[in-house]
Amino acid sequence: MLVTGIDLLSKAHKDGYAVGAFNTSNLEITQAIVEAAEEMKSPAIVEVSEGGLKYGGIEVISAIVRTLAQKASVPIALHLDHGTDFNIVMKCLRYGWTSVMMDASKLPLEENIEVTKNVVKIAHGMGVSVEAEIGKIGGTEDNVTVTEREAAMTDPAEAYKFAKETGVDYLAISIGTAHGPYKGEPKLDFDRLKTIKGMLNMPLVLHGASGVPADSIERAVSLGINKINIDTDIRQAFTARLRDIIDKDKVVYDPRKILGPCKEAMKEVVMNKMKLFGSAGRG
Ligand code: G3H
Ligand code: 13P
Ligand code: ZN
Ligand code: NA
Repeated sequence: MLVTGIDLLSKAHKDGYAVGAFNTSNLEITQAIVEAAEEMKSPAIVEVSEGGLKYGGIEVISAIVRTLAQKASVPIALHLDHGTDFNIVMKCLRYGWTSVMMDASKLPLEENIEVTKNVVKIAHGMGVSVEAEIGKIGGTEDNVTVTEREAAMTDPAEAYKFAKETGVDYLAISIGTAHGPYKGEPKLDFDRLKTIKGMLNMPLVLHGASGVPADSIERAVSLGINKINIDTDIRQAFTARLRDIIDKDKVVYDPRKILGPCKEAMKEVVMNKMKLFGSAGRG
């Protein structure tokens, strides 16, 4: 069934587990996520970036995800990932999305508060949940020094003020993860997470979670992370299986014989994340 983001995340916050938010931009990735959720009896968030929307088109992507979610035996939310454009956020609301992220984290704090507060007012009026970001979650390609890394991390007092003034439903915080594949091993600031969770007592979101070791994920969940974003690990599983198939079989030409097994590889990744995040059996 199709549900709102806060439906899923208020339970996760209360019972101490995390729901995976998996990026899609096409049919096969969405099938992999929804089938994994059903097999694991797990809730799931299917999320789409602005780039993903541009790739698939909002009409088509909305129809694919909403249809598969409505037919599913477990609760699924449809979420806009990193909405930086107010007009795209509004468009998602019109197309029946059940959760949106307003990412104005590049703006100064007061402006981020103003923009987010406005989106919360409109989205809540339509029964839709809202995520926002405070601090800056960069990419692994960004060459940052230790001081810059520290400066990008979420300040607990700012996060508290932000949550209070905006009324946002869940908050993405920066504690040392990055988008894309990691070069070394990411070092998470668990003390910062613990402080923020203690002060805010609300669902918190971890971005850039692909490539983060399982023990760090478990620790982050135990300290209050309730939504975990995964894109890169799924992309890599897809591509590895694709290379394998066309390397081994020089005559295959039916896209279904290629994309079918790629879907299975992505599904495997998603199911393992659901077990790791503690959402399996909660659907
Ligand atoms: O946060 C970034 C997500 O992995 C989406 O990436 O903008 O390449 O679709 P994308
Ligand atoms: P990864 O690139 O680590 O999968 O992060 C995904 C993400 O945070 C999407 O918002
Ligand atoms: Zn992200
Ligand atoms: Na990552």
